[in-house]
Amino acid sequence: MSIAVKESLVTEVKGRPAYSPGLEGVIAGESTLCLVDEGEAGLLYRGYPIRDLAEHSTFEEVAYLLLFGHLPNRQELADFAVQLINQAVLPQLLEVFLGPMPSGSHPMDMVRTGVSLLGMVDPEAADNSHDANVRKSVRLLAQIPLMIATACRPMNRKSPVRPPENLSFAENLLYLLTGRKGNDEAKAMARVLDVSLTLYAEHEFNASTFAARVTASTMTDLHSAVTSAIGTLKGPLHGGANEAVAEMFLGIGSRERAEAWVREALRQKQRIMGFGHRVLKRGDARSDIIQRHAESLSRICGDRRWYEIATVVDHVVEEEKGLRPNLDFYSAVIYLLMGIPRRLYTPVFICSRITGWCAHVIEQQDHNRLMRPRALYTGPSRREYVPLDRRT
Ligand SMILES: CC(C)(COP(=O)(O)OP(=O)(O)OC[C@H]1O[C@@H](n2cnc3c(N)ncnc32)[C@H](O)[C@@H]1OP(=O)(O)O)[C@@H](O)C(=O)NCCC(=O)NCCS
Repeated sequence: MSIAVKESLVTEVKGRPAYSPGLEGVIAGESTLCLVDEGEAGLLYRGYPIRDLAEHSTFEEVAYLLLFGHLPNRQELADFAVQLINQAVLPQLLEVFLGPMPSGSHPMDMVRTGVSLLGMVDPEAADNSHDANVRKSVRLLAQIPLMIATACRPMNRKSPVRPPENLSFAENLLYLLTGRKGNDEAKAMARVLDVSLTLYAEHEFNASTFAARVTASTMTDLHSAVTSAIGTLKGPLHGGANEAVAEMFLGIGSRERAEAWVREALRQKQRIMGFGHRVLKRGDARSDIIQRHAESLSRICGDRRWYEIATVVDHVVEEEKGLRPNLDFYSAVIYLLMGIPRRLYTPVFICSRITGWCAHVIEQQDHNRLMRPRALYTGPSRREYVPLDRRT
């Protein structure tokens, strides 16, 4: 296997394995789920190119692929859709808990706490067998959109919480978060949301997935591993970036102000959210796909403002820093067009990545070895202990 390891960052520690700050370039485990390829393929889920999945499959097919290992046939897909509808139920305890949360609570905190709570009442919580883990994963996939909608009722009063039963996963999510369904514009939005869910579903050992795998490697329960992952995803250097990108677009306000705004931000050494990636230094194949959809959805909605701001920012950041947008950048354009409340952008990421996280937890526990790396000690060398009454 060939890996691009930045030699300068890897320091040989005498008698110990190599050390790489931030684990850059380190292979921390094996996985059959996803290949992040900087070449032509871009990204493969269980061998299938992301472009084919985004163009020809629905998110439900992708979720099934990740959790069950193969693309479903028509019958398997229909059965899976029924399972997702039937399992979209929240235990009473959760509804009671989410109701009185202060309206200022961030939805990411509510979902993290909500998943932890689900782990206390899931009938198979303590069963880490392959089949039980798959069943728990399907339950979480069905429950999380409903949990987000329930948690955000005070913030987004118009949203109905019980969706009709004949909607796809993306149509249902759009309806829960914005109340949109049925007309041509809503159908176009649901299709683009479906693509976005497919693109967000899996990305090998990213920070949140790695957190999930480390947690799962202690053979604790799946809900605990997902709770770790959600806390990790929340940070602005990871999943929180899509919300931060939208804040930036709103702060910029118009295409005319965009160039001066970015040049000034870069002059002040600010990070431009939605650019750069630890692994994808030559660009993110997922960004090209979502950019195309952002452009066409802007046309359909008759609102090109966010797309135009985005393209100016994209151009200037490439010119000044040589950085390419990651998936979060143009995703903010589509979520703005859909009217999804900004604080729900990263929770939407969870609705998708729950599939990748769970598939990794299952894979980890099926072939487990405890993750327990070493630290490079940089503290004081051995020194004499001083009893309390002799300390100055
Ligand atoms: C994702 C990210 C954390 C990867 O970082 P990394 O691999 O650790 O790369 P570094 O932080 O070492 O950055 C390398 C250089 O690029 C610059 N850089 C990286 N991302 C940048 C950004 N978004 N805006 C401006 N400069 C950036 C750094 O300042 C650094 O420049 P320097 O060498 O002149 O100091 C980083 O690109 C980032 O913060 N991006 C913005 C947040 C984001 O979009 N996150 C979602 C990721 S999918």
